Amino acid sequence: MTCFSVCFKQKASSPAKQNVGFKKACACNRASNGNSERNTENLSEENVKLYSYKELQLATENFNPRNKIGEGGFGSVYKGRLKDGSLAAIKVLSVESKQGVREFLTEIITISGMEHENLVKLYGCCAERDHRILVYGYVENNSLSQTLLGDGYSNIQFSWRTRTKICIGVARGLAFLHEEVRPHIIHRDIKPSNILLGKDLTAKISDFGLAKLFPDNLTHISTRVAGTIGYLAPEYAMQGQLTRKADVYGFGVLLLEIVSGRCNTNKRLPVEERYLLETAWKLYEKRELIQLVDMTLEGDFDMDEACRYLKIGLLCTQDMPKSRPAMSTVLKLLTGEMDLRKKKISRPAILSELTAVNSNTTSPAWGNLDKSSSQNRSTTYATMTFTSIYDRSN
Ligand SMILES: Nc1ncnc2c1ncn2[C@@H]1O[C@H](COP(=O)(O)OP(=O)(O)OP(=O)(O)O)[C@@H](O)[C@H]1O
Ligand SMILES: [Mg+2]
Repeated sequence: MTCFSVCFKQKASSPAKQNVGFKKACACNRASNGNSERNTENLSEENVKLYSYKELQLATENFNPRNKIGEGGFGSVYKGRLKDGSLAAIKVLSVESKQGVREFLTEIITISGMEHENLVKLYGCCAERDHRILVYGYVENNSLSQTLLGDGYSNIQFSWRTRTKICIGVARGLAFLHEEVRPHIIHRDIKPSNILLGKDLTAKISDFGLAKLFPDNLTHISTRVAGTIGYLAPEYAMQGQLTRKADVYGFGVLLLEIVSGRCNTNKRLPVEERYLLETAWKLYEKRELIQLVDMTLEGDFDMDEACRYLKIGLLCTQDMPKSRPAMSTVLKLLTGEMDLRKKKISRPAILSELTAVNSNTTSPAWGNLDKSSSQNRSTTYATMTFTSIYDRSN
């Protein structure tokens, strides 16, 4: 049994005990994670607010379905108003989720106290009895998967400027996690449903549930694969090899989606056009990338910039991790501070090839996946990513 699970099995019956349990959990993490002294040194109940279950019950009208704003692989999310009047997104971890408790603790330790314009703020958590609940700042304008890429109606106008701002915001948030936070944090599940949009459509990266502290000098092999297919880097999907470059891959796919307004896979299209990455590569080879830009922009965009963004998307999804740029470089390429023409772009690692290999299930990494994920192989691995979209007007 890991140190994590031992610690987390402690039941906290009173707030005082809760804090002790939490402190112990942090200490265990420090001990089990050679280089993680720095990441937990400031961590105590002072920087993670512990909410009582009762307060969260009150905030959500006893978790009334009316206040439910969605459901992800780890449980349901409710909109709620906290005692101090602020709005929160309250994520109740499902008890059935085997991986959930670990994700929960990881999430708290990795993001508590972290402030960045492009990251969703974690206010605190509740770990009373069997409850595992995360309390986040409420982000007003839904996620990219519900707006730009959703089937339903959205009143947001995604102009070219808005799209560039979102891409740059996500790149900034990721560069911060990868290069400024110590030890580095790999998100592991960069995808449209994890990009929320703030009041002025500022991109906010959410869901650090899969993030993991990342000591500089360890072999970057993860014991299990988490993430969502379509955004998974091949080396991570096939060998469980996890580096920051896996997030760069996910970002590349996201970038193509934002510019094209298309999901990475669209089964309604003819086979040859189904996979966005494949389509982008074919158009790149024919020097016709511009055709991929979202038609709903009706030509109202900067052609050079749009092509540059699409090429950066291809560069981020290169087969070899070392051929993908670091996020700080991606940021400079996006803003034009760095010249993209010096970068060589080869054929990216393409999803359809990856899924063909996956269906043979020959890789050891797939062997680590739980049953629920293997049943959902066409869309998701290890995390179930089914999301219901609810009316958020109430
Ligand atoms: N801080 C937040 N503010 C507003 N809405 C949020 C917030 N966090 C999550 N949501 C919404 O709650 C819903 C469920 O989110 P959740 O993260 O549980 O699932 P997901 O991202 O769709 O899938 P996965 O579990 O694979 O990450 C999403 O629609 C998301 O937009
Ligand atoms: Mg999410």
